[in-house]
Amino acid sequence: MKNIRSLVPLSKNNLHNQNTLIQIQKKTLKTSVMKYLILIISILVIAGCTSKEELVPISAEDFAFNHKGKEIKLFTLENDNGLVCQLTNFGARVVSIYTPDKNGSFGDVVVGYGTGKDFVEKKENYFGTTIGRYGNRIGNATFSIDSVEYVLEKNDGDNHLHGGSNGFHRQVWEVENVDKSSIVFSYVSPDMEGGYPGTINVKVKYQLTADNELKIEYFANSDKNTVLNLTNHTYFNLKDAGKSTINNHLMQINADKYTPVDAGLIPTGELAIVENTPFDFRKATAVGDRVEADHEQLKLGKGYDHNWVLNTDNNVANLAAKVTEPESGRVMEVYTNEPGIQFYGGNFLDGTDVGKNNISFGLRSAFCLETQHFPDSPNKPEFPDVKLETGKDYYSVCIYKFKTTE
Ligand code: GLA
Repeated sequence: MKNIRSLVPLSKNNLHNQNTLIQIQKKTLKTSVMKYLILIISILVIAGCTSKEELVPISAEDFAFNHKGKEIKLFTLENDNGLVCQLTNFGARVVSIYTPDKNGSFGDVVVGYGTGKDFVEKKENYFGTTIGRYGNRIGNATFSIDSVEYVLEKNDGDNHLHGGSNGFHRQVWEVENVDKSSIVFSYVSPDMEGGYPGTINVKVKYQLTADNELKIEYFANSDKNTVLNLTNHTYFNLKDAGKSTINNHLMQINADKYTPVDAGLIPTGELAIVENTPFDFRKATAVGDRVEADHEQLKLGKGYDHNWVLNTDNNVANLAAKVTEPESGRVMEVYTNEPGIQFYGGNFLDGTDVGKNNISFGLRSAFCLETQHFPDSPNKPEFPDVKLETGKDYYSVCIYKFKTTE
């Protein structure tokens, strides 16, 4: 920039001109400074929206923790659109997923803990975890196969929940394969582990696709006839990672029926019609609109904690559910080949534990959409079969697809 004194030499005669020039010069200076400021602010904003620090706040070093002589680690996947998913080998869990809102600003949509130590030591809410051997409940913690009765752990009143207290979620899984956008975890569950028959070889593959999907695939086999029902228990809040409730999230579930439960949350066996009940999510409806409705099933579940019977085409990854959060404009679709989906509305979250992002997740601050066979299927011959026969391949797929509203 040119110096004002070199342009207008000081003299009493041209004082007026000089003052005018000084004003013009000051104005020019101001405008230039403003321009620079705007430029700097823009650079900072753009950097803020896209920088790695913003996208991946959990560092592998902060996460690492030793458990039962094994190292719990953090892995980061990324696709070409900048979507990021962080996972851990402790329970083959999802730790965080960063997706853009309608303005292109990336944010974490997963609620839970942010360090290996917290996952091991804090209250087990099944955050992000792979659930096995059996997603959800088995009534009276017993079932029979080939006329032999198996007795499982009663870790939920009189019932068995999510494979028991030492289920797949508490295991440190092997990492078979990892690249930029995918990872494969594996685990060998010995015969009679948790009371279930058969040695199970299980692999879970997570992949961030070019279509902004987190695709979760389960592969398994057993050396004895057994039951298997694997699912993922990620807690989502598409708005603010769990700072506020999910009441404004618009839920849509592709199901005409659901499976009502008894007081222990075991299905009664009935396939009830959703029409004219708070369980009708065939059209997108805010979760909070009816969650407190005067309905026996909502009282038993303390809110939504039920299995919906999907309108399915058998064995193809069908659209099972779609969730829209109007403020952020984030949308998540769920596709699966499973016959059911558990919509759990975070009714047992109570704000006592603090997780990542310093958030203490309160009642209904997150939801899970767990693709699955129906709860208590081993004791309900009328439900789709969960038997895994010796030598047969188990395959299940769950896709969480992220979009935004227009
Ligand atoms: C599932 C169950 C719930 C509850 C949560 C974990 O979704 O259906 O009842 O046990 O897991 O807290």
